[in-house]
Amino acid sequence: MDSKTYKVLIIGGGGREHALAWKCAQSARVTEVLVAPGNAGTAREPKVRNVPVGAEDIEKLADLAAGEGVSLTIVGPEVPLVAGIVDHFAMRGLPCFGPRKAPAQLEGSKAFTKEFLIRHGIPTAGYRKFTRDNFDRAWLAAQPTPVVVKASGLAAGKGVIIAQTAAEAVDAAESMLQGRFGAAGDEIVIEEFLDGEEASFIVMCDGTHVVPMASSQDHKRLRDADEGPNTGGMGAYSPAPVVTPAVHERIMCEVIDPTVRGLAADGMPFTGFLYAGLMIDAKGAPKVIEYNVRFGDPETQPVLARLKSDLTVLCEAALAGRLDTVKAEWDPRAALGVVIAAHGYPDEVRKGDVVTGLDQVGALPGKLFHAGTANRDGKVVTSGGRVFCAVGLGATVRAAQREAYAIVDAVAFEGAQSRRDIGYRAIAREERR
Ligand code: AMP
Ligand code: GLY
Repeated sequence: MDSKTYKVLIIGGGGREHALAWKCAQSARVTEVLVAPGNAGTAREPKVRNVPVGAEDIEKLADLAAGEGVSLTIVGPEVPLVAGIVDHFAMRGLPCFGPRKAPAQLEGSKAFTKEFLIRHGIPTAGYRKFTRDNFDRAWLAAQPTPVVVKASGLAAGKGVIIAQTAAEAVDAAESMLQGRFGAAGDEIVIEEFLDGEEASFIVMCDGTHVVPMASSQDHKRLRDADEGPNTGGMGAYSPAPVVTPAVHERIMCEVIDPTVRGLAADGMPFTGFLYAGLMIDAKGAPKVIEYNVRFGDPETQPVLARLKSDLTVLCEAALAGRLDTVKAEWDPRAALGVVIAAHGYPDEVRKGDVVTGLDQVGALPGKLFHAGTANRDGKVVTSGGRVFCAVGLGATVRAAQREAYAIVDAVAFEGAQSRRDIGYRAIAREERR
């Protein structure tokens, strides 16, 4: 490796990866950021270069990192992590920030996660798991409703059904076991419904030590007032007011510390971003809804907009097992991101719609992160479900929201969908004060 260059490789091509690339490119020591495959937004970022290698092509990604003399690789999405990209990079001596295949099962298998949580006494909803062979229809039909039915495997955020009636629950379970989500539904998890307010709690881990990222909250439903189908996330903001200092302390003691210790004790220490999806009840008690083994999308966009520290320094400290020697510094302002999705999202998505207004956005405060965009004949066109995430900053969540929506209103394409109420819970809390 040439000591004068410090190249970072970001794997993925969504909004989260645009934010990761943008953040790493701000570091004075970073000479270049490669993004594989990236999007039209990363293509226009200073110091950033897209490389046409898919995020799941592990062998080619390792060749790229080796060939370019990359100093640090950061993996955005879960699929390559669950497939073992970090183990492969390690075998080739390439520094890669993310969990290995064994602990990545925390996201890859909900059944694995439930067993892990129960074994280590970490609070979570009560559950039972079934396959086609042992599915107990009568038991499910007798459960109190609402009840939650989940495909155990990776289903791109869609494999969860909150059934309001016994009949709906049985239907959901049977359709999953019959292949509605493919192999992800070969095993299903039936879970008790948890009441409360959700928060995302994301930390960086080095196997032993933890550096918490700023708290955040996302909106999973497609439409205003949290109605409509579940999506990957229509917007997010940071901090999450539900995570008060006392709740933060409880999450660290009752959830994060026992998880990191438990994984190490089970012989699969966790290095990477660990994302706990939590339900916080009225008394401030956290329960784990799910784990992700990567940064959230769209949580990354507002959270990194507030990170003042050099992300590459934090990742390097983690890879050296020395996260206890660094701290993450945060902008005290709130950040809020609004997703602009394509026509048809979250179902059949239309691609190729021409985007206008990007020049006006350049003159506005805040930041427009691209997600599903591509360059075609000198124009930016839509190429995926979530197309952009507009991030604003402000002294209050309300002010951050105003800045974000000024960007949303400047961007246009046929069929664009976005919510108008991102952050409403936080704003209501703010305005009650
Ligand atoms: P998951 O993919 O497990 O995060 O589930 C997706 C969404 O479904 C979560 O963000 C929650 O809004 C909701 N959800 C999942 N499990 C439960 C539960 N046990 N109780 C209430 N809501 C849940
Ligand atoms: N925003 C939810 C996720 O990244 O899974």
